[in-house]
Amino acid sequence: MSRLKSYLFLGLLFLVHLAFAQEKNGGGRQRFLLDFNWRFAFGHPSDTKKDFDHGTSYFSYLAKAGYGDGPAAAKFDDRAWRQLNLPHDWAVEQEFSPQASFSHGFKAIGRNFPGRSVGWYRKTIHIPASDLGRRIALEFDGVYRDSKVWVNGHLVGAEPSGYNTFRMDISEYLNYGADNTIAVRVDATMEEGWYYEGAGIYRHVWLSKTNPLHVAPHGTFVTAQVNNTNAEVTARANIINENKTVKTFSVLQTVVDAAGKTVATQRQDNLTLAPFQTQEVRMVLPVTNARLWDLESPYLYKLVTTVLAGNQETDRYETSFGIRTIRFDAREGFFLNGKHVKLKGTNNHQDHAGVGTALPDELQYWRIKTLKDMGSNAYRCSHHPPTPELLEACDKLGMLVIDENRLMGTSEQRIDDMKRLIIRDRNHPSIISWSIGNEEWAIENSIIGARIATTMQDYAKSLDSTRAISAGISGGFRSGISDVLEVMGYNYLGNGDIEAHHKQFPNQPSMGTEEGSTFATRGVYVTDLEKHYQAAYDRKPRPTFYSIEEGWTFYANRPWLAGMFIWTGFDYRGEPTPHGWPSVTSYFGMMDNCGFPKDNVYYLRSWWSNQPTLHLLPHWNRPGQEGKEIPVWAYSNCDEVELFLNKKSLGRQTMKPNSHLEWKVNYAPGTLEAVGYKNGKKVLTDVVKTTGEAAAVQLTPHKTSLKADGEDIAVITVSVNDKNKLAVPTAGNEISFQLKGPGRIIGVGNGDPTSLEKDRFIEDIKTVGITDLKEKPVAGMDNGQSAFQETNASGWDDAFKKRDYKNLAPAYVHRGSFELPANFTGADVTFFYKSIGREQTIYINGKEIAQNLKESAEGNVFKLDHSILKPGQNQLEILATPIPKKYDWDNVNQDPGTFQILTPASTWKRKLFNGLAQIIIQTTKDAGEITLTATGQGLKSTTLKVKSADTEKRPSID
Ligand code: GAL
Repeated sequence: MSRLKSYLFLGLLFLVHLAFAQEKNGGGRQRFLLDFNWRFAFGHPSDTKKDFDHGTSYFSYLAKAGYGDGPAAAKFDDRAWRQLNLPHDWAVEQEFSPQASFSHGFKAIGRNFPGRSVGWYRKTIHIPASDLGRRIALEFDGVYRDSKVWVNGHLVGAEPSGYNTFRMDISEYLNYGADNTIAVRVDATMEEGWYYEGAGIYRHVWLSKTNPLHVAPHGTFVTAQVNNTNAEVTARANIINENKTVKTFSVLQTVVDAAGKTVATQRQDNLTLAPFQTQEVRMVLPVTNARLWDLESPYLYKLVTTVLAGNQETDRYETSFGIRTIRFDAREGFFLNGKHVKLKGTNNHQDHAGVGTALPDELQYWRIKTLKDMGSNAYRCSHHPPTPELLEACDKLGMLVIDENRLMGTSEQRIDDMKRLIIRDRNHPSIISWSIGNEEWAIENSIIGARIATTMQDYAKSLDSTRAISAGISGGFRSGISDVLEVMGYNYLGNGDIEAHHKQFPNQPSMGTEEGSTFATRGVYVTDLEKHYQAAYDRKPRPTFYSIEEGWTFYANRPWLAGMFIWTGFDYRGEPTPHGWPSVTSYFGMMDNCGFPKDNVYYLRSWWSNQPTLHLLPHWNRPGQEGKEIPVWAYSNCDEVELFLNKKSLGRQTMKPNSHLEWKVNYAPGTLEAVGYKNGKKVLTDVVKTTGEAAAVQLTPHKTSLKADGEDIAVITVSVNDKNKLAVPTAGNEISFQLKGPGRIIGVGNGDPTSLEKDRFIEDIKTVGITDLKEKPVAGMDNGQSAFQETNASGWDDAFKKRDYKNLAPAYVHRGSFELPANFTGADVTFFYKSIGREQTIYINGKEIAQNLKESAEGNVFKLDHSILKPGQNQLEILATPIPKKYDWDNVNQDPGTFQILTPASTWKRKLFNGLAQIIIQTTKDAGEITLTATGQGLKSTTLKVKSADTEKRPSID
């Protein structure tokens, strides 16, 4: 073959390869979950030694591109760090301390605990050579907080907010056909909210890949106009051209129904975009016989946006949406699809027992479903942007949402926070309102507040004119922010005169954005301030706050109020008002922080839902209190309820709407029975029995068949029965858990606000560096022995410091030390060695652990026998032939590595609190049977079997 021919042939091969590569990727979009296999270690906010010398280089990563140092450097050795999956909240893994923050639930992080307030995450991903030319971006759903991200040593961005979703295009920084390191430094020293917020990468991380001509990030916006049975869907798509040349293209919009059938399409051709320009393409698609999204049947459509350049499909982007109308009316409240709906809402933070803020998607779904089962139809994301998965759950289950911005303000940064929230979330049919803020006392009643609120409101409207703008107001409902809000949000009846305010502003729609803040401990019926027990009868909690019944009655009876949002649906960590240490979670929830119902749940179910409900409180285990008068309450939506004690009627009473019934009953052990009547007919009964001692453990999962995707979970209720199989409502037994099979336990809880037990049982990893490394030149590997005999190395040089690389000795003896804790029995001690020579022999405390080891790029791992180790100072000696430098500026490794002391996790356990505890288990990616055994002293143990079945996994880079 002539030279020309062979060039042509090679060129052709290259073209074929390129075509193949594009074909393989469909030219289109891919999204990979990056949750698995991260390395984690604590750094330090101020002590650079404890922050792995990060930020100490002469030229910092802010001085020169790619100069990330310490863990930010591509080559940093993180082998000794802990391995974990996201989402991860390191705050929940810490001990409690009275020196820690009240509002954040006394977990030992924050200013007083600098060693637990900065976290480093690192992960290596492979990027195939065929990706060259695509746009590749990292997407973080949220990191708490103040995070910096490096890719291959380049600082690619920073995000101060702990709640914003953020994205970084890293295409140019990547090594194609090779490995790439992502490093994230997270600083949770500072708090954003006055409630538990967790710490770390507590939401998903993704890697997205697109063709340079693609739909912009969160680039679609779908709205619908409903005309009788038909709808006009307006689809806007922002297309961006990140090629270096002008592109001509077409956009095809397709509406697909829930069955996968195409119901409308439109196309626009001959669109052009110059490099790096974005253009909005708008099309109207008529949908006949549109199925509406509503609370009972939350029907979802999909918009498929296809970008075509010539005949090549360059992007295909899917947007889930719903067709529905919403309207707030100043006199009649809220309307969904023209139908009046009273908002029966709860406020909630992102926090759950056992896992803190790192909620698996299924847990978010389960929580929304649990609220819906209570009869709730609305959710306020107080006081921060939620995860995309929470909104997806609300879309799928039919739950209306107030989506809330974190910090009020109108500077570019503050507006940008709100803008990103709205642009990310505006296609969710569940969202009915953007809340621009909550209880901003410094500005609430001032002209500055009114100005800020007006600008934020107008700006929000410019991004989405279809949702109402609201905010939570508490400072007396006086002039200021409340004057200008589209929808007034009243926080608490006790904070001002709502009726008077409505009279003054009769044309302003309104709702109760917060009501309640009542106190209750689940399963407790006598207040005991010493024990921090708050009786779970729904009573007025404080002079200026009202009971749930008082609050709901007020809102239910005023049609001009669109509804109310209870503070809160679930208990959360922090704000243990009215108590302090050792109370660590709130008392406000209708459910505790495991989602176990307090009795209020049945009050609400009675008046918020159509489910026939009859519930008696308290429990009937009061040994020693025979004859004592006990208030017995019934929550019910029956017309009448009759109460019996041991078959003897204590009277039949008529239920007033939105109310409850009470009998004063002299305690006698036995059976309390309530019989509910509707239209004179017996329809329901509820029975509460005095139980015996706990005899057997019970495990009840929320589902028994799981997906083997490494993400799915089972939420398992732990309880105990007496010998007659009655659940014991007062039990406090400690239960231990053992899991076998393809799963893991990710958290335990029991809803006790004063429990200082561990939420998670994880391995403890300490890493120990080598200190005081000295060296002495020797004549060769064989001649090193004599240097080893020297007991005193104080005359030796500091290792590597004085080496003359032009005149290297044939070999060097190095000596340094490392410190082991006083007690490391039960721990694995591993030496992660990095070559400091071409060939090396390693001794620990005089015992050889490796001989004539060849230089290795990956390093070597030695699991050390305890017999060669001792508490306190240990000696490391390395005899090595030196690694020469070709150029003066070459970097030669000078650090022989790290010792890891790993103490395995102890047995997972938890005490029951008033008869209940919760354990959450998660699948791995392997299918099989997971067995969970629960044991308790003196109790019959039990084993639960859960199937984890093969499933289509989300694409991920592990
Ligand atoms: C409100 C506030 C909530 C919570 C609640 C506790 O004023 O908006 O975030 O702190 O009080 O009662």
